[in-house]
This record gives sequence, C-alpha cells and structure tokens, in this order.
Amino acid sequence: MRIFSGIQPSGAIHLGNYLGALKQWVNLQEKNECIFCIVDWHALTVPYNPQELQKSISEKLIAYLAAGIDPNKSIIFVQSQVKEHAELAWLLNTICPIGELERMTQYKDKSKKYKDNINAGLLNYPVLMAADILLYKTQAVPTGKDQEQHVELTRTLARKFNQKFSNKEEFFPEPDSIMPEYGAKIMSLTDPKKKMSKSDDPKSYISLFDAPESITKKIMSAETDSGKDVIYNVTKKPGISNLLVIYSLLTEKSIKDIETEFRGKGYGEFKKSLAQVVINYLEPFRRKKKEFETKDSYVKEILEKGQARARVIAEATMKEVREKMGLI
Ligand code: AMP
Ligand code: TRP
Repeated sequence: MRIFSGIQPSGAIHLGNYLGALKQWVNLQEKNECIFCIVDWHALTVPYNPQELQKSISEKLIAYLAAGIDPNKSIIFVQSQVKEHAELAWLLNTICPIGELERMTQYKDKSKKYKDNINAGLLNYPVLMAADILLYKTQAVPTGKDQEQHVELTRTLARKFNQKFSNKEEFFPEPDSIMPEYGAKIMSLTDPKKKMSKSDDPKSYISLFDAPESITKKIMSAETDSGKDVIYNVTKKPGISNLLVIYSLLTEKSIKDIETEFRGKGYGEFKKSLAQVVINYLEPFRRKKKEFETKDSYVKEILEKGQARARVIAEATMKEVREKMGLI
C-alpha cells in the first residue's frame, strides 16, 4: 500500500502526535511504501516566526528519526521543496465547494482561536492537504482523529476529479484513514476535555524531548477529578482516563490490568509510576536527538534524497493531471 502522512513544523512534537500518528508510521513502514512529509506550507496559515521556521523543520525531522522512521525504508521530505503540491492544490480548489471548507471543524476552531488572522489559507488548508495525499495516489493516511474530516474531504475531491476528468475511472484512489484504536485523540494534561495541542501552554503536553524533571512535574500536576480510584471512565474521569490510555499505550498493558495494579492506591502513586514509564520510554528519543544534532550533513542528505524520490512520483502524477484537465 502507498501511505502518506505529515506533521506541521510548528511547536514541539508531543505524545499526542506520537501516539496518534508517528507510532503508527513506524509500524507501517515495514510493509508499505511510506511517504512522510514535513508540511511547512500548512504551518503558515497561523501566526509564525519566519526566523524560526528552518529550525522547527530540522527539529521535526530529528523527531521522525528519533521515533524510528527509517530513511532507507520511507521517503522523508519537506512539502515546499516539491512545488507540485501547490499546483495540485490550486487545481483541486477549482472543484472544491466552499461550503465543504467552511464546515470543517479545524477551520472553525482555528478561526475562533486566531480571530485577527482568518486568512484564505486557513480556509483552503484541507485542499492543500488533499493535494499532498492525492499527488502520490495514496491509498491510506495514518493520522489522529482530528484529521479524519480532512481525509474524508480528500476522498470527496478524488471522486469528483475522477468523475469530471477521468471518465469516472479511478485515477486518484479514494484514501482510507488509519487511526489507532486508542490514542487517536490524546487529551491535554491541563484540560482533559480538550485535545493535546502543540499551540497550547507547554504544561498541557509532554514533548518527546522533555527533560525527566519536566515530565514528572507535568504529570504530577495533570488535571484529575476529586476522586481517588484509578478507573477508566471518559465522561466521569476524563483526566485519569487520558493518563490510563497513555500508560497502556506505552507499556502495552491493558487498561484493565493497570486498574487492577493500582486498586486502592490513589492518584498520586499512579501518576508517579506513569511519570517513570514516560521518562523511560522517551529516554532513547532524547539520546537519539542529541546524536542527530551533531550529524548536520547526514540529516540534510536525508531530506535531499527524500525530496528527489518524492519529486519523481509528483511529476508523473502532475503530467497526467495536466493532460486530463486540458492544460497540455
Ligand atoms: P499536528 O500537530 O497538527 O501537526 O498533527 C500531526 C499529527 O498528530 C496528525 O496526524 C494529528 O492527527 C496527530 N495529532 C495531533 N494532536 C493529537 C492528539 N492530541 N492526539 C492524537 N493525535 C494527535
Ligand atoms: N493537517 C495535518 C495536521 O495538522 C498535517 C497534514 C498536512 C497531513 N498534509 C497532510 C496529514 C497529509 C496527513 C496527510 O495534522
């Protein structure tokens, strides 16, 4: 199967990104043709600092590598280095109803959050994402829950394109979403009713590279209810349930087994143990990050190779698209 996914170079990659997306990518690359992108054009749709963008891109690449993405197995590249993404996005804009874009949850959330910067890019964001996916004739897209609606729109656009320009034959496959059973929506540590998000206060998320002291502090002060039983119940105990999901995914123990282990022990002890689990799990990430930071040219080379491989596929697709749309 051809797989495509991406992460924006903004903020720090956190446990939500890892458990929702990256961890799946690492497994998928064993048996599939995987393309993983750092989607810098998407990151421009909200306020950002141009001086920090390149650093953020390198950090994301290092996070991919530290998490186990293997450049010999997967294509890794930066979106803006393959211009066909912008070309296809423009063309797909012409078959995308505005109404579909206006009803997107992420658009509504971000326009509320950035009231002074509701730009056309924010509205068209899902069209660029559809272009990312379709350019590689992708069959499946592994992401967290928040991106499901965008992948659904991608299917709609693929279908429309096929109907209009391909005699109803399947030119673009309609890609499936791949989401983990648990972990597709990791919640904020400070407000467990909201998803963990890069653009929120660092206290609300654990970055893959947080120092052990910081991990302990964040988990010990994570928002929980006033009870004391370590039990999974999303409506009544959203905070503890979120921590249980994280515990379970990082230890591969079932939630039931963890509940039994902490029966009668209270939140403090559970949190202390979780902090240790997270610290241990992320230790190799911190170590590998340090290692990759000293290998500047190796890291650059990965992107150059990745982008050359991506370009071959992108150029071939665009040649066909231009023909089908009457542009050549
Ligand atoms: P972003 O942080 O928006 O660049 O997201 C990168 C990837 O992480 C996407 O596949 C998202 O769906 C996923 N993701 C982001 N936040 C979470 C979260 N809180 N829980 C699970 N997955 C997430
Ligand atoms: N919109 C995605 C996010 O914020 C990132 C993204 C851009 C993406 N293009 C993509 C994810 C293509 C999967 C496939 O998380």
